Amino acid sequence: MKQKILVGLAFISALAGEDRVAVPGPNGIAFSEFKGYEAWQAVAPSVTGDGLMMITGNAVLIKAYQEGIPENGKPVPDGAMFAKIGWTTKKDPESPYPAQVPDTLKRIGFMIKDSKRFPETDGWGYAQWLYDAASNSFKPEYADKSFGKKLCHQCHTIVKGKDFVFTMFPVR
Ligand code: HEC
Repeated sequence: MKQKILVGLAFISALAGEDRVAVPGPNGIAFSEFKGYEAWQAVAPSVTGDGLMMITGNAVLIKAYQEGIPENGKPVPDGAMFAKIGWTTKKDPESPYPAQVPDTLKRIGFMIKDSKRFPETDGWGYAQWLYDAASNSFKPEYADKSFGKKLCHQCHTIVKGKDFVFTMFPVR
C-alpha cells in the first residue's frame, strides 16, 4: 500500500513537470526546455535492439505533421520538439497472449528545432539523458559537448531529405 502511494506520488510529481534534473547537458540544452513532454502526443512507436521506443512531439510538431510534412516540402518549424522515450521490455505477466510491454525507463533523447540557435546542425538541437530509477532522476548521457553534431546529427543526415527526421506519422 505504502509502495503504491509512493509510486503514485512520483507519477504525480513527474506529471507536474517538477525538475528531476539539475545539470544541463554538455551542449547547454537543459532538460527543463522540454517541460511537459510527459503529456506530448504520440507520433509513432518503434522497437529497436535497445528496447521499446515511444516517439512523441509537442503541439508545434503535431500541427506540422497535420499540415503535411514532409510531403508538403516544408521544413519542420522552429519550436517543434521530439522526445524519444526508451524502455527495456518485459513479457506482460497478465496477458493471456505474448505481449511485450515497457519495463524500466532507460533514456530519453530529444530533438528541438531552432534554426538560429543550432546552425551547425541544420537547425536541430540534440539532447539525451539517462534515467536512474533509484533516485528518479536523469543525468546527461554524453560528456562531449559536440556529441549532437558528431553522433546524433551525423546519423540523422541519412534522412536529410525529410529535414533530418526519421519517424513519420502513421495512419491511425
Ligand atoms: C546510428 C543512427 C542514429 C544515431 C547515432 C542517432 N539516431 Fe536518433 N534516430 C535514429 C533512427 C533510425 C530513428 C527512428 C526511430 C527509431 O529507430 O527508433 C531515430 C529517431 C530519433 C528521434 C525521433 C525523431 C526522428 O528523427 O525520428 C529522436 C528525438 C532522436 N532520434 C534523437 C537522437 C539523439 C538525441 C541522438 C544522439 C544522442 C540520436 N538520435 C542519435 C537513428 C540515430
